[in-house]
Amino acid sequence: MAESMQGLSRTCRCAEISPDMEGSDITLMGWVSKSRNKGGIIFVDLRDRSGIMQIIFEEETCGSEAFEKASKLRAEFVAAVTGTLIKRAGEVNDNLKTGAYEIKAKSIRILSESETPPFPIEADSKTKEELRLKYRYLDLRRPDIQEKIILRSKITASVRSFLTSEGFLEIETPILCKSTPEGARDYLVPSRIHPGEFYALPQSPQIFKQLLMCSGYDRYFQIAKCFRDEDLRADRQPEFTQIDMELSFVNEDDVMDVNERLIRQVCKDAIGLDVTLPLPRMTWQEAMDRFGSDKPDTRFGMELKDVSETVKDCGFGVFTSALENGGSVRGINVKGQAQMPRKKIDALVEQAKEFGAKGLAYLCINEDGTYKSSFAKFFDEAGLESLVKAMDGEKGDLLLFAADKNKIVWDVLGGLRLSIARSLDMIDDSKFNFLWVTDFPLLEWSDTENRFMAMHHPFTMPNEEDWQYIDSDPARVRARAYDIVLNGTELGGGSVRIHMDDVQEKMFEALGFTKEQANEQFGFLLTAFKYGVPPHAGLAYGLDRLVMLLTKADSIREVMAFPKVKDASCLMTDCPSVVDEKQLLELGIRTDVAKASGEAHE
Ligand code: AMO
Ligand code: AMP
Repeated sequence: MAESMQGLSRTCRCAEISPDMEGSDITLMGWVSKSRNKGGIIFVDLRDRSGIMQIIFEEETCGSEAFEKASKLRAEFVAAVTGTLIKRAGEVNDNLKTGAYEIKAKSIRILSESETPPFPIEADSKTKEELRLKYRYLDLRRPDIQEKIILRSKITASVRSFLTSEGFLEIETPILCKSTPEGARDYLVPSRIHPGEFYALPQSPQIFKQLLMCSGYDRYFQIAKCFRDEDLRADRQPEFTQIDMELSFVNEDDVMDVNERLIRQVCKDAIGLDVTLPLPRMTWQEAMDRFGSDKPDTRFGMELKDVSETVKDCGFGVFTSALENGGSVRGINVKGQAQMPRKKIDALVEQAKEFGAKGLAYLCINEDGTYKSSFAKFFDEAGLESLVKAMDGEKGDLLLFAADKNKIVWDVLGGLRLSIARSLDMIDDSKFNFLWVTDFPLLEWSDTENRFMAMHHPFTMPNEEDWQYIDSDPARVRARAYDIVLNGTELGGGSVRIHMDDVQEKMFEALGFTKEQANEQFGFLLTAFKYGVPPHAGLAYGLDRLVMLLTKADSIREVMAFPKVKDASCLMTDCPSVVDEKQLLELGIRTDVAKASGEAHE
């Protein structure tokens, strides 16, 4: 039978006791983590978000009624216990923050009972994620998840405090927005008042924050919910949170400077980490050339080497034809792995194909100086030697080569570099390697759309030096865009924005928009810019990713209170779900599931 807590108040949380409270009576409230009845004495571990306190019930201290109640306690019962805080009679428990103390109980109220939970509430749970997410409210009681959720709150508090002290204003922007087709797929919300019309949930507050700059709020930030209907991965959710900001009258260096100091502050506040400033910077071109990735993990080497020059006259058609087609031949040196069994090398070749390669050429430099290779027969002795030299190859090394268009070669070797490093345990987990990647290309060719797309978004300012090539060689134009990368994950991205209407017009033209289309989709922004727009720039972080990396969690699901699973559903509330016919009628909507899922339909 549950009791009320009328007339009772909690003194502090279970693990928030202090030495000066020793000897006094306190009241704790929480969940029963464990209870052991040893005959004349009952030990109860009471848990709340701060930790665990051991409570002792002895009949002569607490009386028979309380003793009787304590004997009924089971895991996850909620109880209020009043008693004296004393030094432990038994051995100190070093695993607990409160391990030197215990409470000698005087009275107890059972505030609510609990059924046996579907899995134990403990750290490092072996329980399957599906079950944990179905009962997320129980999962969220587990100490290791609580630690992450609490740290998340610390991080947002630190962000707010830092940005406010730097003169940023926190301003909210709408969730019901206009759909704009650039970027990921929108989540749509039907309008009841305007049948047949839809709002879109924001993919980011991008346009609104630029409008706020037009309105003179020269430093804005928001901890903003964003929605993107894309395929989910460990670091992607359909709804996620950005730390979003925009600044007026600034260049990229100003944005990077304030953000480096923000990162330093947040890392210090959240995990006591000292980040050395300035953070390293690397151009996009250098990142691709050295790491085959625009978000390089710089915690280990195994960098890519371009050997195109060395192999250009070799007799190996795979290499020479890639070069003739405007591609390159590049390699990575997997140090000391010449003895890798054939089976494992074959698996790497298969993996390379998954990354888009047509094949993967390898060369093992045996300890006796001989080679084992898939292509050595096409090379003469001198050719092989210069190739090995170009790769800094030594006895015992395994060299892997990909030949193709640059983009494929980067994807393949960048992907292999990461997966080999993980499997050979080459990554130092204690490192936090922040990195700015700058000078991204402005445009990127899309085979599916058959046109250039903005690599960041259509409002990103081109580099003035390259703007002359926008018609003749659009791919050559660099953007004034920057990403911040941590340990190989893109943490955030931003850019200087276009505030000159002639540049914006030309940009829309390069993206294949007619004037009318541009006006229809972004007219309000373009009009706003006619009334005095300051030069501005900004950046947004994925908050979930930041928390994931600082807590060393495996996925962003671990650091969101109520995440969705791979198919974008919530296992706990069972959404998305079918709605009432009446609701659909009001919205003027008829669903046709068979058609939507691509099945035959009459
Ligand atoms: P961008 O699209 O690069 O830029 O997003 C910024 C950051 O948001 C995070 N992020 C995600 N996190 C979890 N799940 C997702 N599905 C997801 N998608 C993105 C990433 C990413 O770096 N408006 C611009 C920013 C700007 O220019 O100021 C923007 O949204 O960490
Ligand atoms: P082949 O002449 O097709 O037997 O290929 C000889 C070797 O080159 C094999 O090890 C292939 O896996 C490898 N290879 C094929 N295509 C490529 C490529 N695009 N890049 C690197 N190696 C390749």
